[in-house]
Amino acid sequence: MQKTYLQGTKKITQLDLASLNKLLTSNQIRACVIGIGRIGLPTALTIANAKVPTVGVDINAELVNKINSGIFPLKDEPGYDKIFTDVMNQKLFHATTKIEEAVPNSDLILLSLPTPMDKDNIPDYSALRIVGKQLGRFMEPHSLVVVESTIEPGFIENELVQIIESENRLVAGKTFGIGVCPENANPGEILHDFTKLPRLVGGFDEDTTDIIMETYRHIFPVELIRMPNCKTANAVKLTTNVFRDINIAFINELAILFEKLDIDILKVLEAADKKYNFQIHYPGPGVGGPCLPVNSYQLLNSARKFDSGLLKIVQASRQINEGMPSHVIDLLSNALNDANKTIKNSTILLLGISYKADVKDIQLSPAEQIVKKLKELGAKVRIYDPYFKSTKIYDINTENDLPSSISDIDGVIIVTPHKEFSDLEPTFLSSKIKNLTVIDTRGIMDKRAAKKAGLIFRGLGRGKI
Ligand SMILES: NC(=O)c1ccc[n+]([C@@H]2O[C@H](COP(=O)([O-])OP(=O)(O)OC[C@H]3O[C@@H](n4cnc5c(N)ncnc54)[C@H](O)[C@@H]3O)[C@@H](O)[C@H]2O)c1
Repeated sequence: MQKTYLQGTKKITQLDLASLNKLLTSNQIRACVIGIGRIGLPTALTIANAKVPTVGVDINAELVNKINSGIFPLKDEPGYDKIFTDVMNQKLFHATTKIEEAVPNSDLILLSLPTPMDKDNIPDYSALRIVGKQLGRFMEPHSLVVVESTIEPGFIENELVQIIESENRLVAGKTFGIGVCPENANPGEILHDFTKLPRLVGGFDEDTTDIIMETYRHIFPVELIRMPNCKTANAVKLTTNVFRDINIAFINELAILFEKLDIDILKVLEAADKKYNFQIHYPGPGVGGPCLPVNSYQLLNSARKFDSGLLKIVQASRQINEGMPSHVIDLLSNALNDANKTIKNSTILLLGISYKADVKDIQLSPAEQIVKKLKELGAKVRIYDPYFKSTKIYDINTENDLPSSISDIDGVIIVTPHKEFSDLEPTFLSSKIKNLTVIDTRGIMDKRAAKKAGLIFRGLGRGKI
C-alpha cells in the first residue's frame, strides 16, 4: 500500500493554513472515510472528486467488494453514480475492510459510523467506541479526525478523546487533531445538499477548527459555520432535527383534532404558511428514518443525565409521533365499518413502506408498526413500494407492480408519498374494486375526487368530505 505523502514531513495538524492549502490543491493530502454507508460513501466520493485520494473503510466485506468491482450501491442517490465511475477510473477512490492499513496512511480521517439506538431507545455509540480504540492504535501522530456521525453534545470531549488516548500513544490537541462536522444531508438529495447546505465545523481547539475549515473549504463548496467547539456543533445538529420532530408532533395532534372538528388540515397549513413567521410541517403516519427519532432520544439521553423530567416537550412529541400508526389503524377500522367490514380477515395493501418519499430506506419507518398492528388484528397485509419490489420485508413477499397488487383487497393505506403515487387516480382504484377503502396518511389524494369515484376515503387530518 502506498504510504501517505506527509509521512516524514510536517503532518496535517502541524501545517500552517497556506501550506495546507497548497498540499490540498496539489492532491497531496490523503483521506479515509470510516463507515461508507448512506452518508459515508457520498462523503468519500465527494472528497475523492476534489482530487484528494480517498479510501473508504467498512466492516461490511460484501459492500467493499461490490464497490471495488465497480458497482455503485446507492441507486436512489442521483448524481453520485457518475462521480463514482469518475473517481474509480482515476484511481482516486477504493474501499477496504482493513482499517489497520487505511488509517496510518491517511492524513485526514473522517468517521461516518452509525449511531442508532437500542430497543430501549438508548443511543448506541458502540461503532464509534470500537473505531476510537483502533484510531488510538493505528493513527500516525498529528493526523486529523473529523466525526461526521450524529452524536450527543459532549461525546467527543468526554468520551471519544479518552478512548483514543487510552492506547497511550496520542494526545488530543498535541499529537492528534479532532473535531466534528455533523452531517445534515437528506437521503435522496445528498449531492444537492453537499453543494448547497451550510456545514457546521467545531474543533477540539481553535487551531484544529482552522485546519478543518481549510480542508473542508477545498472539498465542499458551501458556507462553513465556525462553531466555538465540538459540543456546540453537535447541539446545533440535534436542535434542528428535534425541532422538526416536535413540530411534526404538534401538527399530528392538530390533525387528530381537526378530524373531529371537520376541518381539513391541508387547507389550514396552506393558509397559515402565508404568514411570514410560520414554518410548515405536515402530518403523517409517524416519524421514521435514521435521524429524527434517534436525535430526539439522543437529546433526551443528554437531559436525563441531569434531570429525567427535563425536555418534557421532546418526550411528549415522541409519544405523539409513535402513536400515529395506531391512529392510522383507527381510521382504517372506521372506514371499513362503512363497508360493513372489519380489519380481521380483510386484505390491506400498503402503498409505500419507506420512511419518506423517494428513498429506499425503511429504518424506523412507521410502516413496520402499521404492518404489525394489522397482523395482530387478523388482517392479511400486502405491500407495494417501487423501491422494494418482489422482495421480503416484515415477513411479507412484496408486490412487483401497482396494478396487479390492486386485486382482491379491502383497503389501501398510503404510507409513503413516493412520486409514483402522486398521480394515483381515485377512479383507477374504484374501477378495479367496488367500495374500496382508502386511507391517505400523506394528503396526496383529492378527497372530493375520492368520494366522487365511490371510494370510502379517510385522509389523516382531512375532516369529512
Ligand atoms: N442517513 C441519514 O439520513 C443521515 C443524515 C444525516 C446524518 N446521519 C448520520 O450519519 C451517520 C451515518 O449514518 P448512515 O445513515 O450513513 O449509516 P449507514 O448504516 O448507512 O452506514 C454506516 C456504515 O458504517 C459501517 N460500520 C459499522 N461499524 C463499523 C466499524 N466498526 N468499522 C467500519 N465500518 C463500520 C456499516 O457497515 C455501514 O456501512 C449516523 O451518525 C447518522 O445519524 C445520517
